[in-house]
Amino acid sequence: MGLDVIRPFDLKHWDPKEAAEPTSPQELTLESGKVLFFPALPFELAPQETRFLSERWSNGKTKNISYRGDHAPLKGAQGTADDLLELHAMLARFSHQARQLVEGLFPAYQNVLKQGFTSFRPARVEGRRSSWRQDDTRLHVDSFPSNPTGGERLLRVFTNLNPAGRPRVWRIGEPFRPHAQRFFKAAEAPRPLKAWLMDTMGLTKSRRTDYDHYMGQLHDLGKKDLLYQETSPQERFEFPSGTTWVVFSDQVLHAVIGGQFMLEQTFKLPPAHLVNPAAGPLAILEEMAGRPLIP
Ligand SMILES: [Fe+2]
Repeated sequence: MGLDVIRPFDLKHWDPKEAAEPTSPQELTLESGKVLFFPALPFELAPQETRFLSERWSNGKTKNISYRGDHAPLKGAQGTADDLLELHAMLARFSHQARQLVEGLFPAYQNVLKQGFTSFRPARVEGRRSSWRQDDTRLHVDSFPSNPTGGERLLRVFTNLNPAGRPRVWRIGEPFRPHAQRFFKAAEAPRPLKAWLMDTMGLTKSRRTDYDHYMGQLHDLGKKDLLYQETSPQERFEFPSGTTWVVFSDQVLHAVIGGQFMLEQTFKLPPAHLVNPAAGPLAILEEMAGRPLIP
């Protein structure tokens, strides 16, 4: 039996308010751990922008090129000033369209979503080498050691723009609750002194909360467990080129096993603005811990 995680929508316009057929609010679909999939929603490139579908714009230091707002330079990119200006404009346009999309689909989040970075990923997934912790071909929920969320949700919009028509291939795992149940008991207890020290030394962007600690433990314990990787409930899904999908990547277990050329926009949502907070990772982990995990 499949996991039934993908929810397709017929939307053809990045601004759902402009679409001929209105899409009803989808906060509860997203919050229940589904992947909202838009097979008819490509990110359109201008003819002169197709040249950016190449690895040569990456400066080789980071695997992704990131756009961090109108007034900040691109990070991870190389090229002439004119090239970089054009690439900057392309990523800004995607960032803006992704915002229109999520505001239209999730009206309850409209004024409270924080715009995170936009990332262009020109590298091939296949054959990339990394440590087990950074190996995103293993099932995981997103949790970044140096970037604590303090309970804020990670909402992400992805678009596959592979020019050769190659799909972005994911494995999607079991729901968050059984995943957390499997690993919570094996998790180390949080060490507040360590969190304080890491913050003081500038190793984290803010103080890691106990919630961040447990999310990191789930990420690591799940990735390390090769038997879990192979035998836990999961399904493979291919996102064709020219399609878009939206998930809470801190809730949906995912592994990226193939593809090249993708755009991704991150948004952060304070947990108090969830329509059904009980379904989210914070509430589920607090229930398991028997205490609050954020101050
Ligand atoms: Fe991820």
